[in-house]
Amino acid sequence: MVVVGSKSRYAVAILLIISILMVSYTACNNNQTPSYEQQLYTAYCANCHMENGEGLAALIPPLAQSDYLMQHIEELPCLIKYGMKGEITVNGKQYNQIMPANEKLTADKIQAIINFTLNKWGNKHRTIYVQEVEQQLKKCVIDSSLFSIKSDTTINH
Ligand code: HEC
Repeated sequence: MVVVGSKSRYAVAILLIISILMVSYTACNNNQTPSYEQQLYTAYCANCHMENGEGLAALIPPLAQSDYLMQHIEELPCLIKYGMKGEITVNGKQYNQIMPANEKLTADKIQAIINFTLNKWGNKHRTIYVQEVEQQLKKCVIDSSLFSIKSDTTINH
């Protein structure tokens, strides 16, 4: 049996503490807290459109490099808040599913999600301002049959 002197026991203890600190430091650095925008996307969109925006087979269209997304930027506030249904073509593929409404989302959260989505996974767009989102939300319409607005919602032309 090796008897460890008190000095070297201290040294071992100190080394142990240092290595624990180093491990936790690297662990923290690797798990960077996601941005506010990313957290909103994860909470409200990633279940379907997936964390990397690729969508899900024939059921959920992609947001990553989606031509539909980039061509319907003005409609995004309504689309996100009230959902959508009906046939759409995204990057040459047809989808005909229902995206549920997120009626509790406020304009500033919708703005954060839009800016995140428009500048992620190879997407690139200028910043959309909250005033633009508010303006668009006043104009949400039911006529295109795309928005699955509940019948008790008082939004009209
Ligand atoms: C429950 C699943 C679900 C959730 C959650 C969801 N979506 Fe969708 N989304 C869909 C489906 C399904 C469609 C296609 C609807 C259709 O076929 O008309 C769609 C379509 C879209 C489209 C238009 C097509 C495209 O891919 O460019 C956009 C943009 C979009 N969603 C953004 C979002 C954003 C942003 C969120 C988070 C706020 C979100 N969606 C949350 C299911 C979902």
